[in-house]
Amino acid sequence: MKVFHNKSELSQLIDNFKTKNMLIGFVPTMGALHEGHLSLVEKALSENQVAVVSVFVNPTQFDNQEDLVKYPRTLETDIELLKTVSDHKIVVYAPAVEDVYGDDVKSQSFKFDGLENEMEGAFREGHFNGVGTIVKRLFEIVTPNRAYFGEKDFQQLQIIKKLVELHHIPVKVIGCPIHRAEDGLAMSSRNTRLTENHRKVAPFIYETLKSAKTKFGTKSAKNVTEWVEKQFKKQPLLELEYFIIADTDTLKPVKRKSTKKTYRAFVAVYAGDIRLIDNIALN
Ligand code: PAF
Repeated sequence: MKVFHNKSELSQLIDNFKTKNMLIGFVPTMGALHEGHLSLVEKALSENQVAVVSVFVNPTQFDNQEDLVKYPRTLETDIELLKTVSDHKIVVYAPAVEDVYGDDVKSQSFKFDGLENEMEGAFREGHFNGVGTIVKRLFEIVTPNRAYFGEKDFQQLQIIKKLVELHHIPVKVIGCPIHRAEDGLAMSSRNTRLTENHRKVAPFIYETLKSAKTKFGTKSAKNVTEWVEKQFKKQPLLELEYFIIADTDTLKPVKRKSTKKTYRAFVAVYAGDIRLIDNIALN
């Protein structure tokens, strides 16, 4: 498997792919790969001749320095896992911070038609400026035909679609379903940092989302939200940061349900120090 730490070397290979008219699928990651990431890579390979996987813990999207420092970095294992998908059709780009940012480790300021102000945007200052900056840069380096993102970070997915639209970036952004552990916990690189007790209770998040979906069939968003907040109060190991039912397109919290719109419920929860997010389509 080809592993590049340097964007100019990667660019040469990409130019080579382009002269052969090969389609490039791109899976940006922050490493600590799990089955969810591998399913994105498999999808990328089923629709393109080659998959580029970036492994880069992007400093500008962390609002919490401790989270950045403790974020798992497991490049060797990541490469071994990718080899189980394909050894010769995957190219890894694992740069150091300087290769991406030079000596100016700052994010650009973006507007995404207001999508950036909701939920994660409201609770994690500067997060989507960091995400927008790195994804735009990676798109410029990798110049993929298609790029694959998981729906666990649904707001991120919508924002990246908006980034591509507003900045006229010639890439098709493809959202892929959330990958879950057998007990329902959404797969996340952060799950490896959960204590045994927190890992045991964490499936409660998805259980509650599923019940919220059932209730949303007959009850108002306000009623469902109050019910969810009550359930989390009974669960001492999990601290609810937010539960929001929002319009799928605008991500604005729903005030009055309309049969013409689609909605999703979004949740952010602390399990000890670890922040977990999840979401579910409601209709
Ligand atoms: O979803 C992630 O892992 C990151 O936000 C991304 C898209 C790789 C950008 O750093």
